[in-house]
Amino acid sequence: SDRLPIIAIDGPAGAGKSTVARQVANKLGLVYLDTGSMYRAVTWLVLQNDIPLDDECAIAELASSCEIKLTPSQNLQSPVQVWINGSDVTQEIRTIEVTSKVSAIAAQGAVRKALVKQQQSWGKRGGLVAEGRDIGTHVFPDAEVKIFLTASVSERARRRQQDFKKQNQPEVSLEQLERDIAERDWKDSTRKVSPLQKAADAMEIQTDGLSISEVTDKIVSYCQQLFSQTSSL
Ligand code: CDP
Ligand code: CDP
Repeated sequence: SDRLPIIAIDGPAGAGKSTVARQVANKLGLVYLDTGSMYRAVTWLVLQNDIPLDDECAIAELASSCEIKLTPSQNLQSPVQVWINGSDVTQEIRTIEVTSKVSAIAAQGAVRKALVKQQQSWGKRGGLVAEGRDIGTHVFPDAEVKIFLTASVSERARRRQQDFKKQNQPEVSLEQLERDIAERDWKDSTRKVSPLQKAADAMEIQTDGLSISEVTDKIVSYCQQLFSQTSSL
């Protein structure tokens, strides 16, 4: 077929999905798709418009009519640039405010329906490394490669703390970060609509104590091994 492969990477916050997915995409010459940034952008828009988080009708309307643009950055270090309805929200979607509200918005069925439809249309011809919570289970159930990245809560909190330090943001305690992460894990894995779950056919990588390049290399060699058998890359 003329469809290029899709690599699906799922897992909880701080497991290393964005960092690793970007590097895998770069090494294999595929496009990187950060689906979390889309849920964050819609959350930003909801807050910007002062819509109550439980007004599912107004939020559904917003999610199905908004225009999201993602431009992969050239620099491997920096995140994708994110636009919603013409506003560059690359920085704004990473605030604590958006981070604390995004799981409530992402639990709404109509929001998921609108964003998944967009993701599937971008993935029609394949050639993606897509990362999120429901990529292997729901968005691209036929993905050639499925990876489930995990790490302990304490390891993920430690990584987030490092991120804040590097960005010169005010220090947040490890206890606070662990609580935030555990709460988001819980919300994402217990929601009714496509919860965070390891796909039955996903390869799980426990990343405590593994460096970014070790995880990247594991995934790249797994892909190359699979693709050499089917000669699709
Ligand atoms: O980078 P981090 O892991 O903190 O979060 P993210 O990947 O940017 O995703 C933010 C939130 O969006 C998650 O906590 C989920 O609630 C939601 N999300 C989702 O429901 N489905 C996806 N495919 C991606 C993100
Ligand atoms: O996208 P997700 O929330 O799953 O995680 P991330 O934003 O890619 O990674 C969170 C932080 O952990 C980043 O600063 C990564 O550089 C770091 N990280 C790490 O130290 N070791 C790994 N094996 C993976 C990520």
